[in-house]
Amino acid sequence: MDNRIDVLREEIKQKLSSVGDLAELDKLRVGYLGKKGSITALLKGMKDLTNEERKTFGAEVNKLKANAAELIDKKVEELNRKAIEAEINLMPVFDVTTPPELTRGSYHPVTLSQRQCEAVFKSMGFTVEDYAEVVTDYECFEAVNIPKHHPARDMQDTYYLENGQLLKTQTSAAQNAILRKYGKNLTENGVPIKAIFPGRCFRNEATDANHENTFFQMEGMMVDKDISISNLIFFMKTMLSEVFQRDVKVRLRPGFFPFVEPGFELDINCLICGGEGCPSCKHSGWLELCPCGMIHPNVLREGGIDPEAYTGFAFGLGLTRLAMMKYKVKDIRDFNSGSLKALSQFTDDE
Ligand code: DAH
Repeated sequence: MDNRIDVLREEIKQKLSSVGDLAELDKLRVGYLGKKGSITALLKGMKDLTNEERKTFGAEVNKLKANAAELIDKKVEELNRKAIEAEINLMPVFDVTTPPELTRGSYHPVTLSQRQCEAVFKSMGFTVEDYAEVVTDYECFEAVNIPKHHPARDMQDTYYLENGQLLKTQTSAAQNAILRKYGKNLTENGVPIKAIFPGRCFRNEATDANHENTFFQMEGMMVDKDISISNLIFFMKTMLSEVFQRDVKVRLRPGFFPFVEPGFELDINCLICGGEGCPSCKHSGWLELCPCGMIHPNVLREGGIDPEAYTGFAFGLGLTRLAMMKYKVKDIRDFNSGSLKALSQFTDDE
């Protein structure tokens, strides 16, 4: 019988073993299986055979054709794999045990500011509380006197999660839990509630030099018998003077927040010009730093504390803002940039 089939089979095997790239392989495929390929030619030549011969010969050629196609496909896979391996081998070896060039890490400026504030408040008998970033609508709003559909919610563009919870927009979200945690100590043992709770907050803000969707606040609360605005002013002034290492003047202006009554904006005299007036303070001599006020009776009641017997103050210090002022950072976005060049230049100067 015609040995052209065997010859071709051998030839294909041999040629395939020495093919080096996909382009060469494609030429080979066309040379055998293409319209003018040798295997196709065998099939075309069958018209000159007898019926009987055509049957067996046709079957053999088709087998050869299928076999050649399979071998070529395998070769494509092999060449592709080799190409990937070659690329991987070209990559520089990354040794995770090599020490980084930066020999010493540094604290983030917000962390530095947070720790300074914590140290001052701790020294005045406040506890430092940690709190979740994912909270309920009740914790973030309802428990602090912002019922559903209250217009104050419009001030805080909130990231709601599919499960009905939300990313906390304010550290005030922890107020209720803190009141409940220490309320018993207050009413049964007369120990005042004195707590600060720093935390990351989230709002769907359009970002610019002064706005970020992720920022830090530090909330504080003090509740006892006869707490007044004088206590609030004293603690804030002491903390800020320590943090800025100079005597800081403060002033209160009225401000509205549903969880305090009365509510204030606390300003400090401008640290850049000392109160004379400059571009940083928009020539007013004052910088807005810390909203605060006397805790609303509804908030105390919701936290299980009798507002007839006890009063308290609360404040929501903008920790990120404080860090910007302290370290004279002009663009808030630098803080979340992850740029070591920008972030590693601050040190704890204590
Ligand atoms: N939670 C308020 C905000 O993020 C800030 C605030 C205002 C907190 C007054 C307070 C407060 O505790 O008394 O806008």
